[in-house]
Amino acid sequence: MGFKIAVAGATGNVGREMLNILSERGFPADEVVALASSRSVGTEVSYGDKTLRVTNLDTYDFSDTDICLMSAGGAVSQKYSPKIGREGCVVIDNSSAWRYDSEVPLIVPEVNADAISMFSKKNIIANPNCSTAQLVVALKPLHDRAKIKRVVVSTYQSVSGAGKDGMDELFNQTRAVFVADPIESKKFTKRIAFNVIPHIDVFMEDGYTKEEWKVLAETKKMLDPKIKVTCTAVRVPVFIGHSESVNIEFENEITADEAREILREAPGCLVVDKHENGGYVTPYECAGEDATYISRIREDATVENGLNIWIVSDNLRKGAALNAVQIAELLVNRGLIKPRKQAA
Ligand code: A2P
Repeated sequence: MGFKIAVAGATGNVGREMLNILSERGFPADEVVALASSRSVGTEVSYGDKTLRVTNLDTYDFSDTDICLMSAGGAVSQKYSPKIGREGCVVIDNSSAWRYDSEVPLIVPEVNADAISMFSKKNIIANPNCSTAQLVVALKPLHDRAKIKRVVVSTYQSVSGAGKDGMDELFNQTRAVFVADPIESKKFTKRIAFNVIPHIDVFMEDGYTKEEWKVLAETKKMLDPKIKVTCTAVRVPVFIGHSESVNIEFENEITADEAREILREAPGCLVVDKHENGGYVTPYECAGEDATYISRIREDATVENGLNIWIVSDNLRKGAALNAVQIAELLVNRGLIKPRKQAA
């Protein structure tokens, strides 16, 4: 007998991708339920070759549901996840609401799978920020080999990270530029079409944005609290796929060739690093793919043991939906949960 899975936020960018990935990977589900707000009740969403009718998260009874993949934003998760968890259904949450809670594991399966064991404290598991997920997949094997001291990250983040409204805004503004219509900005603070915006999420007291703070707090929680991380997060006019330029300083010696070899063997990583025109991966090419692509691996001669790398991944997949489904697979494969209907 298989599991009963709910996807909350099933009409959103990430929720739809969660349904695709559950189906693609043949997750052992007997029943999949699509949930969203009352606005979407009756809307149809795809799950493989099936069509699911959306029901209301607010009135849904979780008593025989095993896992809820939640991607409905932080406020919705704050409100519903503790209650769902207390009802015995494990929430895998894509928002930032629970990531920094010491009783909630923050998991990227390739990086810190063992940390999942404490999930039952709240029955909530957090999925990291999209930029952090791809970053730690690449940093982990390098840290294991040469011990990372400091990381400087500049992100180039696609508009899909801001939800479906973000994608619509880039599309509508781009069209407006070509037909000379007025340009409206609602989701982003400045025009995003043919522009870049060095601002994602809210500003904090120290002048950094919350998005930048998330990258450092989450890298420390998952990889090593001793690693120093600093970040500049930038929104770019790309629909899907986040890119990162990363400068890494190590405790021990590591050459670019060694790093290339290590990353070639590392789980979740795919190295494309030819020193020729087009010998690297761009976000357009990574959309719809599961891997974290690593290109442009170079030694940084300005520090003792330094490397520069370029990391690209589909933010809706490894940065969100794929990682959440991999966490669900981890629960199942380690025997940490059993289908409740069978147990009853
Ligand atoms: P809805 O379409 O009914 O508003 P995105 O991040 O792509 O914008 O998607 C957000 C997802 O979260 C959507 O599926 C949205 O559903 C869902 N959502 C937003 N607010 C709520 C809510 N109060 N209750 C349940 N689902 C919600």
